[in-house]
Amino acid sequence: MSLLDKINRDTTPKHIAVIMDGNGRWAQKQGEERLFGHNFGVEAVRETLKAAQEIGVEYLTLYAFSTENWNRPKEEVDGLMDLLVRTISGEVDELHKSNVIISSIGDTDGLPDSCRNELQAAFDRTKKNTGINLILALNYSAKWELIRATKNIARLVKSGDMKLDQVDEATISNMLSTHGIPDPELLIRTSGERRVSNFLLWQIAYAELHFTEVLWPDFKQEDLYKAVLDYQSRERRFGLVSAQLEKNT
Ligand code: FPP
Repeated sequence: MSLLDKINRDTTPKHIAVIMDGNGRWAQKQGEERLFGHNFGVEAVRETLKAAQEIGVEYLTLYAFSTENWNRPKEEVDGLMDLLVRTISGEVDELHKSNVIISSIGDTDGLPDSCRNELQAAFDRTKKNTGINLILALNYSAKWELIRATKNIARLVKSGDMKLDQVDEATISNMLSTHGIPDPELLIRTSGERRVSNFLLWQIAYAELHFTEVLWPDFKQEDLYKAVLDYQSRERRFGLVSAQLEKNT
């Protein structure tokens, strides 16, 4: 039985988020520059998207560039931005054909014009599609969006448009860049690091975390299936005890 056949389609996560880590180490292991690894990382994005489509995932969020990544050497930052523009313009036809809806989360105003324009064209082109949502986290960090949400709520309270007592979970969720998107049930991080690195901190409150030693450029469809099978082997209790869950099913 293949890994794919073992997946229970009834409990496939609706939303999978991925911290794509290990491109630099993958390149350095073969005596290449870090950008070489990022370039090969694009193939892993294709593999992951294909696997997610195959098993009926509705949202796939990829951490492509964090607000902290600007501090990397200029050559790497420029190379990553260039790669992003080339990848989006080169892949958009294929993505559109396979019914993918492309969107982003993060502070895209801070991205170079070339990148913003390419992204906007891809969003416009694919917005009427009905397949998987491919969400690119670009110039994103959870702390950035939580600060922005807090300021927006404070403004509404100050102006009298919202009462302090009305602020609840939904208020905050709706102020985040993921508003309207269900929280990820599964977060995957590659490369053996076991951190969440400022990614979707609010949204992963109840997510299952899957860490794999595989470096991102080596990540294949089978690796996504392994992560989903790991997720399906867990008991998600949401703060309850097992007996309560059994009673509710
Ligand atoms: C982390 O590996 C990876 C990144 C910061 C960039 C991710 C970008 C891609 C996979 C390429 C393009 C993606 C899209 C969606 C077009 P790292 O550099 O931190 O690796 P290291 O920890 O081994 O140094």
